[in-house]
Amino acid sequence: MTLYEMIEKRRSVRRYSESFPSNAAVDKIESFIEDTEQLPGQNAWFEVVSSDTIKSPVAAYSILAYCEAGDAAYANVGYVLQKADLYIQSLGLGSLWLGMGKPKEEKADFCIMLAFGETDVPMRNGASSFRRLPLKKLTNEDNTVARAVRLAPSAQNSQPWEMRFEQDLMILRCVGRGVFRQVLQKKLNKIDLGIAARHAEIALRNDGKTIESVTPKSDGKAFEIEIRYSDAEES
Ligand SMILES: Cc1cc2nc3c(=O)[nH]c(=O)nc-3n(C[C@H](O)[C@H](O)[C@H](O)COP(=O)(O)O)c2cc1C
Repeated sequence: MTLYEMIEKRRSVRRYSESFPSNAAVDKIESFIEDTEQLPGQNAWFEVVSSDTIKSPVAAYSILAYCEAGDAAYANVGYVLQKADLYIQSLGLGSLWLGMGKPKEEKADFCIMLAFGETDVPMRNGASSFRRLPLKKLTNEDNTVARAVRLAPSAQNSQPWEMRFEQDLMILRCVGRGVFRQVLQKKLNKIDLGIAARHAEIALRNDGKTIESVTPKSDGKAFEIEIRYSDAEES
């Protein structure tokens, strides 16, 4: 299954079987993350660890993400690891973003983790099985890109994004939602925006667009990610 198809199939997996993913699968996931492009100017780093190094582990393995502090750096982690989330689930494994997860040892620059292992629950069977806000609360448009963003996972399922579309440009704007708005705003909402940008990027490519740039923009108050694209074939 393609990563685009996985957008309608993935879920947060909270029940894992006793068995372990094969070493080959873990190697593939490590290489996949290494090969995943980061946002311009960003240099997050990632390590796959066995979950016995994690406080209250939920699955056999965890991917630990590290980055400098900052809105764009957090969005970049979301952008990279959401591609991994879709890839992991395309291998038939389960995965779970863990905003509350922590390694046992304190680690400088630790940002967030994504746990993964052998899932004990089936994939979703389509967009109708997602609990999400209606599209019209998120944007005025109804297109494949907006629908892919709507299905993106977010901390507390708060869905802190709004979208607008202009000529060859889409803009994701961070808008706090939900009762945990203040708690999430600093870091987790920025990660959420990066996750949503990844869904948008995958949907645009699936529509035959070429991505020209993905640019986080922060003025200290508002946070947005601009995605510029064109119809031209990639050279
Ligand atoms: C940045 C982030 C942090 C999250 N943290 C947790 C967490 O600590 N515990 C948990 O059970 N789920 C966590 N989730 C999963 C969300 O609750 C989940 O994505 C959301 O409810 C939507 O459900 P779905 O992923 O099955 O579509 C997190 C998701 C994201 C994107």
